[in-house]
Parts: sequence; structure tokens; C-alpha cells
Amino acid sequence: MDFEISKKVEKLAPSGIRAFFDLVLGMKDVISLGVGEPDFVTPWHIREAAIYSLEQGMTSYTSNKGMPELRKQITHFLKNRYGLNYDWDEEVLITVGVSEGLDLAFRAILNPGDMVLVPEPNYVSYAPTVELAGGKAVILKTTIDNGFKIMPEQIEKGITKGVKAMMINYPCNPTGVSYTKAELSKIARIVKKHNLLVLSDEVYDELTYDFDHTPLSSIAGMKGRVLYFNGFSKSYAMTGFRVGYVCGPSKIVAAMTKIHQYTMLCVSITGQIAAIEALRHSHASVQEMKREYKRRRAYIVDALNGLGLDCHMPQGAFYVFPSVKKTGQNSMDFARDLLKKKKVALVPGVAFGSSCEGYVRISYASSYENLKEAIARIKNYLE
Ligand SMILES: Cc1ncc(COP(=O)(O)O)c(C=O)c1O
Repeated sequence: MDFEISKKVEKLAPSGIRAFFDLVLGMKDVISLGVGEPDFVTPWHIREAAIYSLEQGMTSYTSNKGMPELRKQITHFLKNRYGLNYDWDEEVLITVGVSEGLDLAFRAILNPGDMVLVPEPNYVSYAPTVELAGGKAVILKTTIDNGFKIMPEQIEKGITKGVKAMMINYPCNPTGVSYTKAELSKIARIVKKHNLLVLSDEVYDELTYDFDHTPLSSIAGMKGRVLYFNGFSKSYAMTGFRVGYVCGPSKIVAAMTKIHQYTMLCVSITGQIAAIEALRHSHASVQEMKREYKRRRAYIVDALNGLGLDCHMPQGAFYVFPSVKKTGQNSMDFARDLLKKKKVALVPGVAFGSSCEGYVRISYASSYENLKEAIARIKNYLE
């Protein structure tokens, strides 16, 4: 039988990262610096809380919006950490990672053809999720000349009739770029002037190394215009638990909850219990992981620049985004050839959009020893 697939889905290009990593599967002794997930296992006290909840027989559905205790813990955390005030019952929704949160948000706000500004390079799911929700992603390309940061003037130029919202992610996957409060205030000015809604993916907030992270919603006048996305995958090394959350205007959160209750029902209770424990007792483990990422960042940036692969110092997350232009190869050829000859896997920049040609993404969520060995192999390859 040949069943027809939805046109929207047929049009969708498969993830460039997946396509590349299909090549890695089945190869032996590969050092993979390609995946965007912590190499640490979830801290033991969090796993223990999850195990204990199972022993106690906690295996049911929860409230659609998420366990009240988790939503309360999140609002406490945001208040203490950033001075943010969200109502735990009206303005918070627990989602299956930031991924589900973004999908719900685009589906909740977009009518067919509505446009969303998406800075590039960006996390690979943004544009496809917008398109699946019936919207149109308008790509705003950033370059190394501005340190891969989106400039307020660029946003203003991008705002045409039909633009309803803007996506922002910082610290950024894949560049590691983040924004200071002063930079965010300039962006906020444009957002307010044009009455935009901003979806702010701050899933790497705890992994900001050189200055304090500032949530966009904490800038004066922005709370009512921002959907704040965060989760437990990165800072707490909890990717497999699949827990994230969104905070924002109650009307939008209620609309998102409507979709969530029909499509997902709720996030796994085990994940939610683990997340409560993470918020209560993980400060020390988060700081320890952060220290180690920072140590690796210093090493890898220095080593890549030493090899002649120009690499800016990222301010957060666990990625570096060096240029491979000097090799004369495009990013896909470089990545394929390096994999084949030296068994180091990294992600070709083109996976993040056409403007990222000439760059590769290297994740330093891999042991210091692995990074050293990878650098030795890259050096050998370049020679
Ligand atoms: C910027 C960004 N947002 C969202 C996600 C997905 O996070 P989650 O595991 O919370 O769905 C990732 C994962 O790599 C990411 O890099």
C-alpha cells in the first residue's frame, strides 16, 4: 500500500546532524565530539530520588500542567536566581523537554503563514517546528563579524507585515554565544517598539562562563512579551528524563496546555520527581560540571587556534564553532574526511544553515582526555 504523507512533512528536510551521524554508526574507535548532550551521568541523588519514587509505587499520570510541587519549585528557583516572578499555577507548564515546549508554543500562536524571525546559526529544530505549525521561518543570518550575535538593527529590518514572533537562544547552540544584559536591553527596545512576542530558549543558562546570565523576561517591560524556555537536560545532565518547562503570559500558557493535554497528557512522573530533586539539591553538582566545562573550553579554544583553525571564545553552553576555511575544504568535506581518516566526528556547519558554511561545531561535552586525543588527531590530519 502506498499511503500519502502530509505535504508539510514531505517537504521537511531531515536533520543534517542525524544524516552525518548515520555515517559514524558502525565505525570503531571514533571520538565523537558531535552530540549535544552532557557526558556526565545525572547526579546520583537525582537518580536515587527517581528510583525511590518507583519503589514507592509512584507510577501514575500527574496534572496536565505538571506536578504542583515542581511548578512551585521552578518559580522559587527563578525568583531566587533571577528575581523573576511567575505564578506557579497560571504561568508555568511542564513539558517533555524544551523541545515539546517550542512545538506547543508555535502551534498555540501561529496562524497559517504567520512569520517567525529565527537568527542563524541556530538549534536545528526551530525552523522545522515553525513550519510544522503552519508558520514561516524568516532566517536572520549572523556572522563572525558581529561575533555571531543578532544585532537589534537586523531584527528591526526583519520585521515586516506578518512577523508575529522572534526566536532567540542564548547561550547558543551551535556557537556558544551569549548576550550581556546591556545587549539584551537593546534587543528588548526593538521588541517592545514592534510589539513582538519572543520565544527565548535559555536551556544553557547555567552554563554561562564569563558573565551572569540574564533572562530576557527579566528586562524591564519584557515579562509579558517573552516565553521563557528552560529544562533539565543540559545543566543537570538529565537529557533522558525529558523534562522542561515554559513560563510566560497565562493566556499563551493556557493555550499551550490545551494542546499538551490532548497530545502528551503529562510529563512522566518519574522525570518530574527527579526534576524536583534537581532543583532542591543540585547546586554543588551543577557548579562542578560547569567548572569542568570551563576548563575544557579554555583548552579546546586555545588548541584549535594553535592549529590555525580560528575559533572565537564562546561565552556559554558546551560548543565551539571554529572556522575550517583555511583548509580549503567546505565543512561537509572536512567533517567527512576527518571522520574517515582520523576517526574524529564533529558536526559540519551547514547542518545549522547555509550561512554556517566554513565552520564546524565541536562539542566539549566529552572528557578532557578525549579532547586531547581529538586535537592530536586533527593536528595529524592537518599536517
Ligand atoms: C538550544 C537547544 N534547545 C533545546 C534543546 C532540546 O532540549 P530538551 O532536551 O530540553 O528537549 C537542545 C538540545 O540540544 C538545544 O541545544
